[in-house]
Amino acid sequence: MNPSLLDRRFATIGRHSPLFYDQPIELVSASGVWLTAADGTRYLDAYNNVPHVGHSHPRVVEALRAQAATLNIHTRYLNDRVVAYAEDLLSRFEEGLDRVLFANSGSEANEIAFRLAAQHTGATGVLVTDWSYHGNTRLLAGITTGLRTFEGLDPNVRAFPVPDLDDAANRERAEADVLAEALAAVDRAIEQLLEHGYGMSAVILETIFSTEGLPRVPEGYVQGIAERVRAAGGLVIADEVQAGLGRTGQRLWGYQRHGLLPDLVTLGKPMGNGHPLAAVITTDELLEEFGSRNEFFNTFAGNPVSSAVGHEVLRIMDDERLVERAARLGAEVRRDFDALTARYDRLGPTKGDGLFFGFGVFGDAARRIPDATTTKRIVEGIKARGVLLSRIGPHGNVLKIRPPLAIEDEHLPQLLGAIRASIDEALD
Ligand SMILES: Cc1ncc(COP(=O)(O)O)c(C=O)c1O
Repeated sequence: MNPSLLDRRFATIGRHSPLFYDQPIELVSASGVWLTAADGTRYLDAYNNVPHVGHSHPRVVEALRAQAATLNIHTRYLNDRVVAYAEDLLSRFEEGLDRVLFANSGSEANEIAFRLAAQHTGATGVLVTDWSYHGNTRLLAGITTGLRTFEGLDPNVRAFPVPDLDDAANRERAEADVLAEALAAVDRAIEQLLEHGYGMSAVILETIFSTEGLPRVPEGYVQGIAERVRAAGGLVIADEVQAGLGRTGQRLWGYQRHGLLPDLVTLGKPMGNGHPLAAVITTDELLEEFGSRNEFFNTFAGNPVSSAVGHEVLRIMDDERLVERAARLGAEVRRDFDALTARYDRLGPTKGDGLFFGFGVFGDAARRIPDATTTKRIVEGIKARGVLLSRIGPHGNVLKIRPPLAIEDEHLPQLLGAIRASIDEALD
């Protein structure tokens, strides 16, 4: 008997590379929000944020093809495509955030951001939230709190918990008290970094706190962190790898939800619609300082093909008004979820923003004990109904629903119907 594709994968890529679902799906093609499996099943994609403007968008495919057929070269020559893309991308940020360093992945962008911060501040102390993920380089393994890493936290790193106003422990408390307690934890973490001589280099914040489980944070929380870090001499890195490019609806960048102006913004996943493209956005001052101290060069990042693809993604977002759509459809889904979660006392309130949402599943309604097993069953049930999504959070009990921004009104009945039916099946 021929070995299965799964066995061949294990024999080459190994057994530890993660695969979704009890029975992994073999995918063979995709278009818009639809994925087609080898057995012919079509799935509505409610999980993937990388195919931002839609899988295999014909305009992205053509931009890639046309530029690949014309010129692709490393980044040490002048090329108008690259500069035009940088100009367009930067025009979408606030004044002052007017320089870009292209990168190949979100990990690389975050690694570079930390390098800039350390060189600017002369400090090495890093603050990170509990249960977060920012990438897979050595430095980032040493700040990872949301996935298992052999390295563990590096000595110059302190993690602090992100408060969730929806948590059982916080539901009856005043928001101001939750905020004060959460910021006191940040103060303590900064004090420790200073006491141990690391100084304050940077805090990194994923601006929708997705790995953390989409907590509903108190008003002023993110600004409060930024003020404290800056007062201690550090910089603020906004990781927009998941929350950026309109994901949260109404606005392009997740940090804008919090009234924050970061010193460094890191971008990835959706930028290239599947083509490896990422960036660090920063100030002239920080880039000048870094550039004058380092002969920094990147072979692939920001090459003409990547730039053609990234630029086309921005144009499609404008032409198809995807950010406004994310806000409108997100609000519609939220209304539906609010009705659904009100029906079951084992479901927490709707979480998230724009086209990134979910809700918690609990085993004990009164005490809100997270129920990962039932959540997994619900995710599998939704898959059986032709919709792909996942789950997140420290307890793995928050549904993670994050479709391509290309999702349209006509897809909502299948999305919501599959979720409703699977919830009914699991909880009724
Ligand atoms: C918030 C966040 N930052 C950074 C990364 C790393 O990006 P990449 O996998 O492109 O290196 C990820 C990947 O999941 C992410 O979710």
